[in-house]
Amino acid sequence: MTASNPAALQGYRGALLRFDAGGRPIHESDGLLVVRPPSPGQRCASIADVGDYATLRTRYPQLAVTHWPGKLIAPGFIDLHIHYPQTDIIGAPADGLLPWLENYTFPAERAFADFAHAQSVAQFFLDELLRQGVTTALVFSTSHPQSVDALFSAALARGLRLVTGKVLQDRHSPDGVRDATAQSLRDTQALIERWHNKARLGYAITPRFAPTSSPQQLEGAGALAARFPDTWIQSHVAENHDEVRWVQQLYPAARSYLDVYVRAGLVRERAIYAHCIHLDDEDRAEMRVRQAAAAVSPTSNLFLGSGFFDFAAAERTGMPWGLASDVGGGTSFSPFHTMLAAYYVGREGHTKQGLSLQPSQLWWHHTGAAARALGLEGVVGNLQVGAEADFVVLDPQATPLLARRTARAQSLEELLFALIVLGDDRVIAHTQIATPRTDAPD
Ligand code: GUN
Ligand code: ZN
Repeated sequence: MTASNPAALQGYRGALLRFDAGGRPIHESDGLLVVRPPSPGQRCASIADVGDYATLRTRYPQLAVTHWPGKLIAPGFIDLHIHYPQTDIIGAPADGLLPWLENYTFPAERAFADFAHAQSVAQFFLDELLRQGVTTALVFSTSHPQSVDALFSAALARGLRLVTGKVLQDRHSPDGVRDATAQSLRDTQALIERWHNKARLGYAITPRFAPTSSPQQLEGAGALAARFPDTWIQSHVAENHDEVRWVQQLYPAARSYLDVYVRAGLVRERAIYAHCIHLDDEDRAEMRVRQAAAAVSPTSNLFLGSGFFDFAAAERTGMPWGLASDVGGGTSFSPFHTMLAAYYVGREGHTKQGLSLQPSQLWWHHTGAAARALGLEGVVGNLQVGAEADFVVLDPQATPLLARRTARAQSLEELLFALIVLGDDRVIAHTQIATPRTDAPD
């Protein structure tokens, strides 16, 4: 076999970071990742082997190897909640969530009725995700079906594993973003049939949040979620006190905000709820039992003043969670910034129990645990045999300060902490997307 043989395996040598099934880090200071090109029946290139270089090399004497000395090969990051149409309103200040939606978000999203605009933002958005080392994302489009077509088409052309959906919002929304109940459900079904499971793409049924959907729209979304059980569901819950009070008024029969979604059949495996700040333990247990997950969005929660996610309560109750940017409420596409903000929010000990999240734990919740939350464990989010070959190559010497600090790291945790605290897009030396099959994409 040679590198010019299309069926040949390809090796990548460098330090390796991966995780065991319990989320504990595995670190090889000199490792080898062996990638198999897509074969019939496979959607894309996959990981054929992974481990210590000296041990593995003897198994693959002919292997063509790309060597990245001094670099760290790690799983691509997964962003569990991000709005591509809000790329252009990052950093728009407001007195909390509801005025921010009204003054910035809805006007920006209205522009996505124009397909050409949606296409151009989608291209920029995907460039930026990849530049920041994010290889999979669960993404909000807008209420316009063409905004979904634009993002899926762009992601398909790049061979990405990406999930998105048309926002459902049939009330309490201005002209230009408000949809009509029956048509919104027909549009959702048509988009599922057009895009779900095409190549590496997946569809998410996407009610914006309870205040902007009628009970009929939520019920219709729940019916679609039952009819297409391997689709994803994404929404927002319990982000802000004013929002929570509004939901109590709109849905007085529900026990809690989360219960509105439970009653509609929208809390199940593959359902991801952004924020989950103002929940109680009954809600958290409900999430655990139903295998739904929280998309924890700390830069957004700090920027909008929404509150502090209670990591101790999530761990105590077993509520699954992963990390997310929530751009444009969130302030950065960078997983390093998100992990650092999560650390700060974890430390906050005035409104809830404060704790110190380990760097490897933060990293796991932005990769493997996020994949598990999506029902994609073994597919993305970790460097394991059989998984799709998305990964990042990190440069611990990307800046003078990083080089100085990481040279003094005494342990893996210290190294990861230095990257989290000092890192940004400059650390991402390379983002590798698994080569898609080109013969007969499904
Ligand atoms: N709740 C409803 N819509 C949104 C949104 O676009 N961003 C955030 N952060 N919260 C929401
Ligand atoms: Zn959001």
